Amino acid sequence: MQARPPLCKSPSPFFKTPVLFLHPRFVLLEYLMCIKGLFVFVFLLCGSFGLVICPPPRRPVDVPFQKNYVPTWAPDHIKYINGGSQVQLVLDKYTGTGFQSRGSFLFGHFSMRMKMVGGDSAGVVTAFYLSSEKLEHDEIDFEFLGNRTGQPYILQTNVFSGGKGEREQRIYLWFDPAQDFHTYSVLWNMHQIVFFVDNVPIRIFKNNGDLGVRYPFNQPMKIYSSLWNADDWATRGGLEKTDWSKAPFVASYSSFHVDGCDASSPQSLQFCASRGRMWWDQIAFHDLDAQQYRRLQWVRKKFTIYNYCTDRSRYPTIPPECARDKDI
Ligand SMILES: *[C@@H]1O[C@H](CO)[C@@H](O)[C@H](O)[C@H]1NC(C)=O
Repeated sequence: MQARPPLCKSPSPFFKTPVLFLHPRFVLLEYLMCIKGLFVFVFLLCGSFGLVICPPPRRPVDVPFQKNYVPTWAPDHIKYINGGSQVQLVLDKYTGTGFQSRGSFLFGHFSMRMKMVGGDSAGVVTAFYLSSEKLEHDEIDFEFLGNRTGQPYILQTNVFSGGKGEREQRIYLWFDPAQDFHTYSVLWNMHQIVFFVDNVPIRIFKNNGDLGVRYPFNQPMKIYSSLWNADDWATRGGLEKTDWSKAPFVASYSSFHVDGCDASSPQSLQFCASRGRMWWDQIAFHDLDAQQYRRLQWVRKKFTIYNYCTDRSRYPTIPPECARDKDI
């Protein structure tokens, strides 16, 4: 982000410090901070009146893979680069592979930088998801469906609550996800689950408990990723098969920070469940702000391929969460 000249003629003591405020959306806030004392006031207002000055989720810091993750299966198909600051998952005709977080988390912001399998990736699926371990499980999914060379990937998302899923949405991305690393993340608190691609919200699932829609709030989740062959369904509905002469298929990952409330033990679960202590509990993260809703609309309009919310043959009546979440 490029530097801008300061707005204040004589900067307040607050003014110089926070790097956060270089973001263009903070211009108004920065200006108000010239007037000392308004700072706290503005933060309290943020979110409650749809003001466009709410902060985006916190930026992840980079830590090595081993700090937060372990292989789930086929550990010999995971390659460590630069001491684990980057890893590669390898799929060949014998096996795919996957990894999972050491801890289980209740709420937070979970992000991963990923670069998908390049070239001919038809039939290959790369997933990044959160999932609880009990029977009526909760799950928050990103699934990247590969394609023939030059054909676009599909990003499928889904939310399971209390064992019930069938809430698929599918979009094309506005870039080639195999070209570079991009950040994929999930913000999860008591109020909403937001899927982000490079900080653009592509999907929101709000807590609609009052409408009788179950919301994930009491089961800690682990973070998972995997790479596997799914040519029975992934590409053009299973018509395009994996071309094994192009194997091995490689997906790359970096940035393994986990910004969640670790609920691995019963005591910590109780701590994480008691609300209002973490940054994601702040009012600014209870809902999307106006700009984020505009961006979500942009994704809806330009990139959506499928949305269960608008699938009347599958759901003759609109699922209650869809109407509330402005998804139709
Ligand atoms: C693959 O490319 C075809 C043709 O452009 C397209 O219809 C399809 O949506 C693409 N993605 C997948 C995963 O099938």
